[in-house]
Amino acid sequence: MKGIILAGGYGTRLYPITKSISKNILPIYDKPTVYYTIAILMLADIRDILIISTTQDISAYERLLGDGNKLGLNFVYKIQESPCGLADAFIIGEDFIGNDNVALILGDNIIYGETFPDILHEAANLNEGAIIFGYYVDNPKSYGVVEFDKNGKVISLEEKPSAPKSNYAVPGIYFYDNKVIEIAKSVLPSARGEIEITDINKAYLELGQLQVKILNDILWIDTGTYDNLLDVSNFIRSIQREKSLYIGAIEQIAYEKGYINREQLLALAESMSKSGYGAYLKSIVERI
Ligand code: DAU
Repeated sequence: MKGIILAGGYGTRLYPITKSISKNILPIYDKPTVYYTIAILMLADIRDILIISTTQDISAYERLLGDGNKLGLNFVYKIQESPCGLADAFIIGEDFIGNDNVALILGDNIIYGETFPDILHEAANLNEGAIIFGYYVDNPKSYGVVEFDKNGKVISLEEKPSAPKSNYAVPGIYFYDNKVIEIAKSVLPSARGEIEITDINKAYLELGQLQVKILNDILWIDTGTYDNLLDVSNFIRSIQREKSLYIGAIEQIAYEKGYINREQLLALAESMSKSGYGAYLKSIVERI
């Protein structure tokens, strides 16, 4: 399975912070936001990752992440000329996806939970159709919303409904079979002028090939406001202190998955030796 991180958009809701820097380069406590999304794809055993961003911002991702070789990954970069909708990721990514299945994660979505890696594995083993998630929220109007019948069967999906039919929002991580490319090409722009991921999900629903898994005991947060940025940073800080284990440490995950060896991890740690993050990576080698 291939992975796509959509890290474009203008970030206007975070102005002036994002006037000269991409939202997903901003720190969540001690790491750039994009680290957490890469970590999620890595936990799903996805090693080929396309990062999509704007003309202005793409070089910042390339500087930060390079070609991925040092992590045993493959990073590819593409520009989205204008933020015309999330479904555009599959059109931009058509050549990259090739004949594979694909996972899409929005660069500003942070998801954490001890059971999440198992959920990701299951989703990444998808044969046919689509797997998306449902997450209980108090403010469903801000999201894609999924409605279930009393047997838990999905009956509708709506993008930012004014009268939501449920409190289950759809988080920004999606798993699809290869049909998604053709479906994305057939989606028409919505009233807000975007080709919507919700319309892709509706197409799978109509085909009877949409699975929606409810995320319980998992934290999902999109970092779209100043308060979310601060709250999630504080959350990551306190979990890391409590567990002495870092969240979103992509170098550690690469080591634990056997993509890089002890010497390669030590070299990465050494390149950041003046920071607490570098010291943490060094300590991992001694621990395991
Ligand atoms: O966060 C989950 C929600 O994400 C879903 O529940 C909704 O169904 C989905 O439409 C999306 O809603 P948002 O309003 O949060 O999407 P937003 O326009 O904020 O875009 C999400 C991220 O993707 C944001 O960091 C900018 C980036 N983006 C967005 C668009 C439309 C792009 O890179 N390119 C785009 O064309």
